Amino acid sequence: MQLLIKNIKALGGILESDVEWLKGSQMSDWKLIENAFLLIENDQIHSFGRMEDCTSVENANTIDASNRYCIPAWCDSHTHLVFAGTRESEFVDRINGLSYEEIAARGGGILNSAKRLENASEDELLEAVSKRANEIIKTGTGAVEIKSGYGLSTKAELKILRVAQKLKQISPLTIKTTFLGAHAIPAAFKANRRGYIDLILNEMIPQIAEEKLADYIDVFCEENYFSVDEMTEIIEAGKQYGMIPKVHVNQFNAIGGIKAAVDANARSVDHLEELSDDDIEALQGAETIATLLPSCSFFIQIPFAPARRLIQNNLAVALASDYNPGSTPSGNIPFVLSLACIKMKMKPEEAFNAVTINGAYAMHLSNTHGSITKGKKANLILTQKIPSINYIPYAFGGDHIYQTILNGKISYTNG
Ligand code: NIG
Ligand code: FE
Repeated sequence: MQLLIKNIKALGGILESDVEWLKGSQMSDWKLIENAFLLIENDQIHSFGRMEDCTSVENANTIDASNRYCIPAWCDSHTHLVFAGTRESEFVDRINGLSYEEIAARGGGILNSAKRLENASEDELLEAVSKRANEIIKTGTGAVEIKSGYGLSTKAELKILRVAQKLKQISPLTIKTTFLGAHAIPAAFKANRRGYIDLILNEMIPQIAEEKLADYIDVFCEENYFSVDEMTEIIEAGKQYGMIPKVHVNQFNAIGGIKAAVDANARSVDHLEELSDDDIEALQGAETIATLLPSCSFFIQIPFAPARRLIQNNLAVALASDYNPGSTPSGNIPFVLSLACIKMKMKPEEAFNAVTINGAYAMHLSNTHGSITKGKKANLILTQKIPSINYIPYAFGGDHIYQTILNGKISYTNG
């Protein structure tokens, strides 16, 4: 099966196959070929180049992409896509002056979502997550990481991760999964946090590993959630069972979680709205990527992570949505790009790289995803007829995706 995309206004995000991630000033390189073609064979990028070098391909289906850009589909490396119910009442509480932390202290927040998820069946959760999967495909996402963390009991955490596995079978999205049992201390263990940590270590991790439900292990390392030492204990235990650390740190306070995560060889440290000089130093030379979540900052009105400081220190930045019912009820990556440019002063090229190759790196997918490279998965976006590629972050909130092509097939067409 071949699919030829011809007359592309510009093909963007071209990289050599050995590029795993882009750091510092490399993030400004976003290579474009104007007036281009791209040939898909089965589910892979077979070849691409300038239109004048496009030899005729017999029997190939053809898309005329005149006035459209073709770029890699987004790689959204941080979401909590499996959840039950939404939390508009907390949204209104915040409008009325309560903070995210105050709402959580009153039993709202993560515990509110855990209560709702407890009674939801796997079928109900699968239906809800399938809708969200289709929603993010419409805004150009092709690969996504999905965390548990709204279960907070062995049964409910397994339920979330099984649902994510079922989604893998039915969705064209490339999916990686993360066990986040250490998202909050559940109500039943309020007076016995050690008991809950032991449950994670002795029951949840072994059972999740037994069923091969998670690629990664995550902990919400934060005041009033899990301490740095607790995080270290939990991620080290996950590593014994083959789960790679990928953690929530520095959302509200810089308490030393970044250094501990780097020492544990975490693939990514996510949030980083609060960042100390020691944190920057800890990331130097590490294989851990900084994953920033500007939609979360926007929605709960906390500082935006210092992307420029990270990039100026020659570090790699990934951007992700954090799609979840509490702090970020949106998986819209074009909006993430706008926020990154407007609020974090990332250049459009840096932001595009952050949601493609660097997002792929955060999910160990750089070999197959995140760039226009021969032999990579044909996961592509064709844009609407827009004046320039920078129009995507510029015209914020707009509907700029025309088609999302996943595994070489058109998964979504706008209109
Ligand atoms: O990444 N910070 C921790 N976890 C989520 C939000 C959880 C919630 O409010 O439901 C986040 O922002
Ligand atoms: Fe999150």
